[in-house]
Amino acid sequence: MSRLIIVSNRLPFTIEKNEEGIFVRQSSGGLVSAIKSYFERPDKQSTDYSDKIWVGSMDAAEEDWNAVKDGPDLLTDFRVEPVFPDREQYEDYYNGFSNSTLWPLFHYFPTLVDYKKDYFEAYRDVNQQFAETIAKVYQPGDTIWVHDYQLMLLPQILREALPNATIGFFLHIPFPSYEIFRLLPSRWKRALLHGTLGADLVGFHTHDYVQHFIQSCKMILKVENQFTDILYKERVIKTELFPIGIDYQKFRDAITDEETVGIATSLEEKFYNQKIIFSVDRLDYTKGLDYRLDGYEEFLSRYPEWRERVVFILNIVPSRSMISAYMKRKSRIEEKVSTINGKFSSLHWQPLIYRYNHLSFEELCALYQVADAALITPLRDGMNLVAKEYVASCIDKGVLILSELTGAASELSEAVLVNPTDVEEVADGIATALTMHPIEQRSRLSNMQRRLASYDVFKWTSDFLGCLKETKAEQENLKISLLN
Ligand code: UDP
Ligand code: G6P
Repeated sequence: MSRLIIVSNRLPFTIEKNEEGIFVRQSSGGLVSAIKSYFERPDKQSTDYSDKIWVGSMDAAEEDWNAVKDGPDLLTDFRVEPVFPDREQYEDYYNGFSNSTLWPLFHYFPTLVDYKKDYFEAYRDVNQQFAETIAKVYQPGDTIWVHDYQLMLLPQILREALPNATIGFFLHIPFPSYEIFRLLPSRWKRALLHGTLGADLVGFHTHDYVQHFIQSCKMILKVENQFTDILYKERVIKTELFPIGIDYQKFRDAITDEETVGIATSLEEKFYNQKIIFSVDRLDYTKGLDYRLDGYEEFLSRYPEWRERVVFILNIVPSRSMISAYMKRKSRIEEKVSTINGKFSSLHWQPLIYRYNHLSFEELCALYQVADAALITPLRDGMNLVAKEYVASCIDKGVLILSELTGAASELSEAVLVNPTDVEEVADGIATALTMHPIEQRSRLSNMQRRLASYDVFKWTSDFLGCLKETKAEQENLKISLLN
């Protein structure tokens, strides 16, 4: 039986060191949530793989990793293979090319993009280092699945080192339209497409992202394509749509989990006469936090009858705090939070509760369960798993207010869809959600829940890996028929 090697920049845990010692924390973000769910449920996995290995970069020194790796916090039933990039190079690769060049560009924020040669070079070198770690663990017959924009050069580097390997690539963020992608210097954009096309199968969340990718390949690399198959350097590479799902059952099981129920009950008691609006996001300019706060402020002004009857719990998860575009947002958001609280609070009511921290799984589920509405309004998001998790967690009430600019909007059409920059539409969306008839809420929820239950993260992984296997077999047949 073959083994599955998952490769992503982020490992499922982060090691933090301070004066008190070394700590292990769960990593945040949609990619980790999805892969971790898949790895943690052996009963739901395909039986095609005898072993699972997760290769990712380690943000701690090798000695710190050695100190914690066999501890109880890191007990996993998959093997972890860390890559230890040089600190300075990692900075330019992670904070630089990945998160100050590709992330803003692919999310349609061209004015935030840094075009630095050193960043690209570090990106190339760290991708190379990943390949070296993989080459050490690879055995013929293994399946390698590379994830996300931090590793777009890796499939081709691997293809050169391991020509017959089965390699899949999945992009968790939007692939932008050609007009945006072409802003990159020629050498970089060619390298990124060439790098990605080292895979046998390239997956995206939505049909649009697939089309944008093919269009860029045609315009820049002059490849030929037949529908979603790309012919490049005598290989046929399949591109396909695989909208990522969540571990639906895990969120349903949390409804009866004792700890979660305890937190939910105390929240309900605390806010017993108020409707609860909830949102949780990493602190990221793509999440539309400024506009969201403007929308809530507009709601309190336009609908004064809701004052003292509603509370907005805004949880922001720290993220990429070394990048100035991120840090600047934090103080702006905090200023807005205090402006809104200053403007509308009364002696016994505060309209906004703001928290800047990670949430435990139980806290997160309890907040999803008690929230009468979730306000999820990114300016751009590859998918947005929080929206799906909220819907999965609702018991018999709950309205999702969702930005139409997320990948999730095409699947969750029963949400109250809003344009995140239209503060009046957001304000009206909140009012619509809070006054929606319970029967209507339940009917919308059950339609969405049915879809989320049937296309969950396990179906997503098995579809991707199944398609990768078929693609490889087709390529082998093609090779044999060309030889004959
Ligand atoms: N999440 C987390 N830590 C928290 C709060 C949330 O890891 O403190 C998870 C959340 O459950 C979700 C993921 O982070 O699975 C966020 O994924 P999403 O696709 O919404 O956005 P991303 O952060 O990947 O841009
Ligand atoms: C998004 C990206 C992931 C990333 C996550 C968290 O979901 O698609 O690749 O891991 O954000 O960001 P971070 O920079 O902390 O890994």
